[in-house]
Amino acid sequence: STHYSVAVIAGDGIGHEVVPAAMDIVDAAGSRHGFSIDWTPYPWGSEHYRTHGTMMPTDGLDRLAQHEAVFFGAVGAPDIPDHITLWGLLIPIRRGFQQYVNLRPARHVKGVRSPLAEPDGTDLMIVRENVEGEYSEVGGRFGRGTDAELAVQEAVFTRKGTARVAAYAAELAARRSGKLTSATKSNGIIHSMPFWDEVVAEAVAQQPGVELRSVLIDALAAAMVSRPQQFDVIVASNLFGDILSDLAAACVGSIGVAASANLNPERTYPSMFEPVHGSAPDIAGRGIANPVGQISTAALMLDFLGETKAAADINQAVDDVLRDGPRTPDLGGQDGTREVAEAIRKQLVCSRPAECSAGL
Ligand code: NAD
Ligand code: IPM
Ligand code: MN
Repeated sequence: STHYSVAVIAGDGIGHEVVPAAMDIVDAAGSRHGFSIDWTPYPWGSEHYRTHGTMMPTDGLDRLAQHEAVFFGAVGAPDIPDHITLWGLLIPIRRGFQQYVNLRPARHVKGVRSPLAEPDGTDLMIVRENVEGEYSEVGGRFGRGTDAELAVQEAVFTRKGTARVAAYAAELAARRSGKLTSATKSNGIIHSMPFWDEVVAEAVAQQPGVELRSVLIDALAAAMVSRPQQFDVIVASNLFGDILSDLAAACVGSIGVAASANLNPERTYPSMFEPVHGSAPDIAGRGIANPVGQISTAALMLDFLGETKAAADINQAVDDVLRDGPRTPDLGGQDGTREVAEAIRKQLVCSRPAECSAGL
């Protein structure tokens, strides 16, 4: 049977609760579909920082590069500044492995509580640029403590970086409804955005059958709340895509259910699979984190590895449990991480009754 080698970084906070839950489900899917995963855990994150002064060892990326994928929980701890935890682990992986596509699906499952009056039929794919744009290292803080103190942040958009993420989004749109929305802010104020519009339009024009609509980010945020069904694939810059993906997740229920894949489409380097949510220190250690985001993220990983049937099975089991199974508090329920994950595992295994009655 097929083996895959996957690096696991549970990271911090609820990462330690949702990652093992998702690994169990992947293993169960593997035994049904004839593959297995060799999981290699790496104890990197805030605890590593407290003991060693770094979030990961200096050869961290080389070690991860030996694997076919990285399965990641979350990083971030209340006692360590975020710029240390993020620039020390998450961002170097995304950039070092050229994971320039951040794919973030948001789909409403009937029966799941949503703050929207009519969430039914929401099914969108956010394609977020993941290595440049507003998240640049160019900038700094100057004149600390003086009257003239200031902070500068440059957004860096390259033609190559913009064109490749737009091309990915266009190809995805062509395989879906053909509708592609580009999030922009080109009404004359920000230099980078007319450039974004121009490069996106050129890249999308190469893909037959895709209709491109550019929508200003502020109006787009409002439209996502009032009628999210009008959107299918949305391509966005790093910061806009970050904000839109939490918004989309909340619209379909909770950021606890939102999956995400940091992809290197050329497969020169491993891709990394981590949910949209963070380490959630406010609920960490209580066993109530929603495991669905991490589990759906595992399905994205299996899909990328070529195990499309296993991925589809997991998604189906998740939908079944979301519809009428146990629920964590973020979805209005009173159940815990373990109960939800166990219900999903059972649903996955028992959708073939013969296997289920065999005592699984
Ligand atoms: P967060 O996503 O961790 O939490 C936001 C809110 O959503 C919290 O109220 C939390 O309890 C809730 N929530 C998140 N995931 C949940 C889940 N699975 N089930 C139920 N509720 C869930 O964002 P934050 O509080 O802004 O950030 C906390 C830390 O995480 C910070 O250090 C931040 O930098 C970091 N962070 C890391 C990542 C990552 O590693 N990819 C992503 C986002 C934030
Ligand atoms: C995410 C997170 C990260 C981001 C942070 C933690 C740097 O919010 O994965 O969405 O902004 O990319
Ligand atoms: Mn985010």
